Amino acid sequence: MDNIIFENNRLFILDQSKLPNEEIVIEMKSLEDCYDAILRLKVRGAPAIGIFAGYSLALFHGGNIEKAKEYLDSARPTAVNLTYATSRILKSYRGGKNPVEEAVAIHNEDKNTCFKISEYGLSLLKDGDGILTHCNAGALAASKYGTGLGPIILGTEKGYKFHIYCDETRPLLQGARLTSYELEKSGADVTLICDDMASYVMKKGLINAVLVGCDRVAANGDTANKIGTSGVAVLARYYGIPFYVLGPLSTVDFNTPDGDGIVIEERDADEIKNMYFEKPSALPQTKCLNPAFDVTDNSLITAIITDRGIARPPYEISLKELLK
Ligand code: MRU
Repeated sequence: MDNIIFENNRLFILDQSKLPNEEIVIEMKSLEDCYDAILRLKVRGAPAIGIFAGYSLALFHGGNIEKAKEYLDSARPTAVNLTYATSRILKSYRGGKNPVEEAVAIHNEDKNTCFKISEYGLSLLKDGDGILTHCNAGALAASKYGTGLGPIILGTEKGYKFHIYCDETRPLLQGARLTSYELEKSGADVTLICDDMASYVMKKGLINAVLVGCDRVAANGDTANKIGTSGVAVLARYYGIPFYVLGPLSTVDFNTPDGDGIVIEERDADEIKNMYFEKPSALPQTKCLNPAFDVTDNSLITAIITDRGIARPPYEISLKELLK
């Protein structure tokens, strides 16, 4: 099922906040609906947020496109894809073009991009590999194939038998709710683990590679990924396991020299204490720190796999090379 559907000039999404128990498609009728869908992760994952924001701005800018862009951009600050897409829509509108056509182009480009990332990623894997994933970087987070999950989905289609260990990904359980759901549907062999079991499966020799998506890559290769990813990268380094970050080259923000310049989204404490529990898991007065992403140091990344090729350290040079 598609995550973002544009049909007869109407915009629909599969509400990811209800998965895996309910597959509900909802229609967006206003800019506020779109903002709310991004904020509440009804649509989520960096490339998918970009695709969706493109349609949202093109359809619902209401004549004041600069203000509408600013409003949408404020919904989630870390993923570069959001402002990348809204900037393209703004440019096409100012250039007298139809912004809806630009939104469709962004969507179609992403399908192609994900396929190329998947092919490059698959070239680094072997049949029978054990692979650890964190968060969700599949088709739900992008378009067909996805980024971090792309090589697994493509490989499974080609008959590879991978053994996937999928981190639950606290606090919002994108790994449990979305990655295991997507992998079950694709026919891959998937085993769900809690985030704190990553070291256990690595030490047992069950993991040959880690694959994760990314939300913003700094010019030096530091990457912002879902919270907890940097810990997985530290473990992978300790156990000598390749740690691969996958995303479109447009996720590289060449204006941000290193990870210190990446704004990290902080989310509501309720997500830690009150969601997915019958009763709150902590007292109401207990403070919570809920950063949505963390920065993985470039020294822990074996390769950054993009639609334009595979970058290896030193990333200051190799990422720029891919632009040529
Ligand atoms: O908070 P989310 O669910 O939007 O976070 C998603 C991730 O961290 C993904 O792994 C990342 O956006 C890359 S998506 C292909």
